[in-house]
Amino acid sequence: MSPDAQPISTTRYGSNAGQPLTRRDGLLKVTGRATYAADNHPEGMLYAVYAGATIARGRVTSLDVAAAKAHPGVIEVWTPDNRPPLSHDPDAKLPPFGFRIEALQSDRVRYANQPIALVIAETLEAATEGAALLHPQYEVDEARTELDNGQMFDPPSVGVGGQPRSAFGDVEAGLKAATVAIEAEYETPAQYHNAMEPHAVVAVWEGDKLTLDMPNQALVMSCGLYASYFGIPPENVVIRSPFLGGGFGSKAIINGPQILGILAARALKRPVKLVLTRAQMYGPVGHRGRTWQTLRMGADAEGRLTALHHSAISATSSHDDFLEPAANASTHLYASPAILSEHRGLRLDIGTPGPMRAPGEASGSAALEIAVDELAEACGVDPLEFRLKNYAETEPGSGRPYSSKALRECYAEGARRFGWASRPLQPRMMRDADGFLVGWGMGTALFPCPMFPAEARATIRAHGKALIETAGADMGQGAWTALAQIGAEALGLAPDDVEFHSGLSTLPDGGIAGGSGHTASAGAALAGAGKDAIARLTDLATSDPASPLYGAGNIGVVARGGRLHRRDDDSRSESYGEILARAGGQDIVGTAQSARDPAAAASHAMYSHGAVFAEVKIDPTLGQIRTTRMVGAFAAGRIINPRLVESQYFGGMIWGASFALHEEALHDPRTGRIMNADLAEYHVPVNADIPSLEAILIPEDDAYVNSIGVKGVGEIGITGTVGAIANAIWHATGVRVRKFPIRIEDILGGL
Ligand code: MOS
Repeated sequence: MSPDAQPISTTRYGSNAGQPLTRRDGLLKVTGRATYAADNHPEGMLYAVYAGATIARGRVTSLDVAAAKAHPGVIEVWTPDNRPPLSHDPDAKLPPFGFRIEALQSDRVRYANQPIALVIAETLEAATEGAALLHPQYEVDEARTELDNGQMFDPPSVGVGGQPRSAFGDVEAGLKAATVAIEAEYETPAQYHNAMEPHAVVAVWEGDKLTLDMPNQALVMSCGLYASYFGIPPENVVIRSPFLGGGFGSKAIINGPQILGILAARALKRPVKLVLTRAQMYGPVGHRGRTWQTLRMGADAEGRLTALHHSAISATSSHDDFLEPAANASTHLYASPAILSEHRGLRLDIGTPGPMRAPGEASGSAALEIAVDELAEACGVDPLEFRLKNYAETEPGSGRPYSSKALRECYAEGARRFGWASRPLQPRMMRDADGFLVGWGMGTALFPCPMFPAEARATIRAHGKALIETAGADMGQGAWTALAQIGAEALGLAPDDVEFHSGLSTLPDGGIAGGSGHTASAGAALAGAGKDAIARLTDLATSDPASPLYGAGNIGVVARGGRLHRRDDDSRSESYGEILARAGGQDIVGTAQSARDPAAAASHAMYSHGAVFAEVKIDPTLGQIRTTRMVGAFAAGRIINPRLVESQYFGGMIWGASFALHEEALHDPRTGRIMNADLAEYHVPVNADIPSLEAILIPEDDAYVNSIGVKGVGEIGITGTVGAIANAIWHATGVRVRKFPIRIEDILGGL
């Protein structure tokens, strides 16, 4: 143990651990009573619809504003000529986490689907029809949407403020000394968020006070950002986001359409609703940017890595920087004496990419895990054995110990459940009864487990039950349920006796629901707030001569089942209600803040880990690929609710299958427009694509990550899966495909 970071005992949170409770919001959702942003209809509400550019680069030369304005029901039409002013320049970045947005600040078109005009009307139909009457004319410049016509640059950072380059050891020397080496190029496509609920806003102004109903992954932070655009103090903004129909990272970001909707409400002094159409989600609200990656790896005669070089070109827009930090996936997974990761940027005429489910790791590990498979193949070593030979006992480069790392157990248990031991080393060795080619592949999963500063409040009420509060977001991951479990446990109450309020920006700041860090961040704050409330309640009881707990002192008392018990004599106890009644029926309020302990963060490397095993079956005549089986084993610290965690792993693995075989946004090379901006032609997997899934929750105690020992589970499931499926396809066919999504035509020639 490092001297400057003391382990935090996790045992005191044991009482409610691991309860597979069903979702608190489940009934509301399946009965249609959960109200999403667009379900709000304040009195007098108007509808705003924007027209999107149908070219990807150039200038709008004319819009038939008169025709749109003359349409019955249309109240106002805005273009860059008459759009009312904003207090913040949309072309200036706004920290933290701000992007340049398009809010009709100029007639320039920077990507297809960029807002070019806004129509505000009494009905949705009138606004939609008005927007269709604008008939934009353009001066068209050639659109750059491919590697060969974009502009390359050296990025100052990747992802959100990440280092574009990291290096240790001598990669070239390592490659020269290698007995076996590989070098290959990999390509990952543009993917769009396609949350079930599109981005939306219902904006209501009362004077200079603003209330927003919108799906939002970063409530309190967003209030400050919105306030800046409208020149009001952050406390004048209230965001209500009780339910989100998916977010994936895109709903933590401010975007132009929502700003325009809010501006319309202020200018017209009436509530305004703006909801993106499915097609409009392909542009102004972020996406997973394309990457072109190169991996060079060497191994010695024993199959141990001598060098790892991962370089990535990441696409971004012409006007802003978000670069998929793909190469960073290689910096902390496998033991190698030399690792170099580096990025270049590529400017294209596309909407700015943004964080999307495992940004960096998803694309980067897709390439890395194939490369590892290729090197194992070149060494003649089983891919699992190869990974075990190169197991990082400490963090590569830094040599720091891991706060916890049960990856070995993930490999072992995943392999056992999958049946990996009977896998033939050579490809094309397995067929099923129908003559289909069968292949097995695997990949290692890894994701950081960040914490965001968060605050929470816990109130024990006079009747002995409790209310816990934090401004968090449940986009489907189960935060309402898991966070309530954490709070209830700290309060010594059954979850049913704890009310949970969230999804409202006026509550204590629950931090960002992103980076797979929400349960850890808001959960640690809730645990602290519950503990604080219990400490205050204990003070009341132990200092009251009328209490059976009198004189026990703060540490002499245990909270359990809605009662405080003397630690040295369990029979001496008193209910919370009794204690509070005697104290005059007051409520007890506890508060806490959470953040990562800087000493622990400096001394320990912190990641969730996992191993994914996949089986594919391929029709040898048609080349049709089916994923038939996936087993993932993951270790992510303490598991609060195994039912919800399993669901997160399933979601991640399904997205991995989607990445490997289905998703890709395609640009028309003539216009730069996305050709498949809808759920009919932008393919995502359906049930038939995912026949059998298993997620194994490997126990892991972590004394360093935070006070509750919780890592993150949301995004890791994608990271091992993409490579596992690609490797299974190789194992079935002998064809190595390095470009996603993998299609029939990629393997047909090799069958
Ligand atoms: Mo995420 S990219 O915070 O789902």
